[in-house]
Amino acid sequence: MIINSQEDVTPAVLAEIAQKAVGYLVALGQRTTESHNEVVLMSGSLGFSTLICLLNNGNRGATETTANLLGPFWRPESPRMPNGASLVRSPTPGVPMFVKAWVKDQDGKPVAGADVDIWHSSTEGYYENQDPAQADMNLRGKFTTDADGHIHFRSIKPAGYPIPVDGPVGDLLRQQGRANMRPAHLHFLIYKPGFKTHVSQVYTDDDPNLETDSQFGVTRRLIGHYVLHDKEPAPAPDVKGPWYELDYTFEIEPGIAKLPRAPITAKARGERPAIERLKRAGA
Ligand SMILES: [Fe+2]
Repeated sequence: MIINSQEDVTPAVLAEIAQKAVGYLVALGQRTTESHNEVVLMSGSLGFSTLICLLNNGNRGATETTANLLGPFWRPESPRMPNGASLVRSPTPGVPMFVKAWVKDQDGKPVAGADVDIWHSSTEGYYENQDPAQADMNLRGKFTTDADGHIHFRSIKPAGYPIPVDGPVGDLLRQQGRANMRPAHLHFLIYKPGFKTHVSQVYTDDDPNLETDSQFGVTRRLIGHYVLHDKEPAPAPDVKGPWYELDYTFEIEPGIAKLPRAPITAKARGERPAIERLKRAGA
């Protein structure tokens, strides 16, 4: 295209990119199945999901927020559990972890009767819906906040994990010289009518990949202090060795309570996926 003025430049460039971009969208769709969502992965890998989250939370980006990415692995039908229950449903190696969480409104008042969904990966880096070795709903549960806006539960400390790189997202990361690890985290989804549904992740403060999260999800506010106890007795008599403790407070905002659509709807079948680990260029 011959450029007549400055107004011509951007449309000319976009027209050239368009064909390639459409091919990219087609590839994202082709790689997406009922148990894998390449579109969600790409949105996170481009930083788009975090940007949208921060623009739409924390008083529309004006203040700090405890909101974060949903990710692909949430399941809406996780089982309801009483406060104090364990998320571990099949033998899962790992250091025991005891979590206390509080849900507050913007005035710091406790929000009672909120449903809090929790889900996380195993220490081997797999969610139960990726991993035939784990029981259905392992490391998942739904709790309800008490009059103090409080829930507490038991699990094992999660590990970081590599995101799949056998599709267009992998091509992008390789071309950019990026690693594909996510730092270890717990996922939360807080639902209470009268408040915007609050999706969050709380990252472990000892993870080596906090600075290079492939999904750009780590904000300062979301780095949790996972305290290691190796001398004090655990809150449960069956725990003899070291254990971790996390205390965390979420701040939710007034708005419309609406649940998202689950990005995947089926469990992976067959073998556990062997996921390649990409090294960061220069690392
Ligand atoms: Fe995750």
